[in-house]
Amino acid sequence: MRVIIRPTAEAACVTAARIIAEQVIRQPASVLGLATGGTPLACYRELIRLHREGRLDFAAVTSFNLDEYVGLGPENPQSYHHFMFANLFRHINIDPNRVHLPDGKAADLRAACEAYERSIVAAGGIDLQLLGIGTDGHIAFNEPGSSLASRTRLKTLCRQTVEDNARFFDDADQVPRLAVTMGVGTILETRRCILLATGENKAAAIGAAIEGPLTSQNTASALQLHPEVIAVLDQAAATSLRRLESYQNAESYMPDPDELT
Ligand code: GLP
Repeated sequence: MRVIIRPTAEAACVTAARIIAEQVIRQPASVLGLATGGTPLACYRELIRLHREGRLDFAAVTSFNLDEYVGLGPENPQSYHHFMFANLFRHINIDPNRVHLPDGKAADLRAACEAYERSIVAAGGIDLQLLGIGTDGHIAFNEPGSSLASRTRLKTLCRQTVEDNARFFDDADQVPRLAVTMGVGTILETRRCILLATGENKAAAIGAAIEGPLTSQNTASALQLHPEVIAVLDQAAATSLRRLESYQNAESYMPDPDELT
């Protein structure tokens, strides 16, 4: 796994955005996997900025989001649909018909999960997936104990995740207990991944994901099986890593991802 450590959260998010931008510049019809949460907000701001400067064209891009709360429709400000339009899609020229998020209000959720998997395959698979990480090591909503071979499905959220995500709601009671999420197996089939983590509260989860044993108790650790993952961290999120020096040394031989072609 390539590990890039930036001095600040803002700088880490800019680096993640530049990697995404480079993908879209190189392959305008890219299929992007996108994430929600507080972490990617600054990354999306940078993508919007590059688009407004005329350096980034999303017209041919297709996107798939990782997850959605069960019971929340796009009109609900707490839904991930709403989040994506408010924080990215509305500000760039992506075709809304090419945007995909799991439907948390589908009448038949199981069938909708299977259809979501099929639509990813029909789009040719995900070229670049952006991932955040939960404080319990989850990617998307693959909570500890999730099968590392799991596909898009319904998942019950852990108490820790409900508490962590309560800050986006008026109170914790309003956080849905169920979500539809891409599986770990689905994520492992993407061609490239960025694991973006910032802040001290992610340090333990990041240490376990990157240097710990492969375990369903930290589903981000499954990324050790993925052939092309770039972990982009700020210094605070990197504090539990033991091999810091070797990552920094390796980076000194790599091209700077912040430089756009
Ligand atoms: C949620 C999302 C994850 C995200 C995580 C961390 O649980 N389902 O995809 O990575 O939150 O979010 P934040 O960036 O707000 O810490």
